Formats: sequence, structure tokens, C-alpha cells
Amino acid sequence: MPSTKPLLATLITFPTMTDGRGDLVALETNTPNVPFTLKRVYYITNVPQGQDRGGHAHKALEGVLIATSGTIDITVDNGHDRESFTLDSPHKGLHLEAGLWREMSNFSEGAVLMVLASEVYDEADYIRDYQAFLEWVKQ
Ligand code: TYD
Repeated sequence: MPSTKPLLATLITFPTMTDGRGDLVALETNTPNVPFTLKRVYYITNVPQGQDRGGHAHKALEGVLIATSGTIDITVDNGHDRESFTLDSPHKGLHLEAGLWREMSNFSEGAVLMVLASEVYDEADYIRDYQAFLEWVKQ
């Protein structure tokens, strides 16, 4: 029997308009590239070598994570399974639905992580303790 691999997040390849001047990616809300109503964009830069980020889950927020520059590993956990993805292109996005623990690691020098989010910032939507996340998943 073939093994079943968990797929906790969806890697999206964005359509890219390429010509002799370079590449252009356009992302619009409520499309296959951004499958939710977009309310916020933030980005993370200047991550020191070896520094991890994330280490939290969102109760309601979903998002698309994009390494607009460099490479970044994203580990996703639903409380039962873990899966890792490498973002290594500005033409790819990782769609994370709500209720997933995420960790970001192995930021290459100069990497930029851009996040398209379905909600405005709300600390009450975060679960920042892994044991609390496992309890929350059980409910
Ligand atoms: P944090 O959640 O720790 O970042 P990461 O997901 O990369 O681990 O956020 C860092 C700080 O920035 C924290 O004090 C919360 C704040 N913050 C905002 O004020 N607005 C935002 O939109 C985000 C994402 C974070």
C-alpha cells in the first residue's frame, strides 16, 4: 500500500510575467493565489543566521507565506503530523489554513519572508505555547 504523506499546507506556484526586463508576479485577493480576503501584509527581514522565528499557531487567521528573496524553511504542525517546506523562490507561496502551528528556520542571508494575512493583527488569535496548542487541537 502506498504511504500517505500528510499535506498540511499547499504550495502555490504563482503565474509570472517574464520578459527581457525581468519577472513580475501579481497577487490579488480571493483568487487561487490568495484564497481568502486579504487584510494585512507584513514582511520579515534582517534575520540573523541561525535564528528561528514563528513558534505559534493562529486560531482563525490564514495566510500565504512567500520568500520574496532567499530561502526559508517552514515547518507546519497540526497537532498530529509535522511537515516541512522550503520556500526558495519569489514565484511560490505556502498557503497555511487556520489552526496550524508554524516554525520558520534556516533563513538564508538576506532572506525576506512576506506574509499575506486574512486578518488584521490580533494577539488574541495567537497560541504561542505548544502544549496549549495541543490542548486547543483536542477541543
Ligand atoms: P512575532 O509574532 O513574534 O513574529 P514571528 O511570527 O516572526 O515569530 O511578532 C514580532 C512582534 O511584532 C510581536 O511583538 C508582535 C508584533 N506584530 C505586530 O505588531 N503586528 C503584526 O502584524 C505582526 C505579525 C507582529
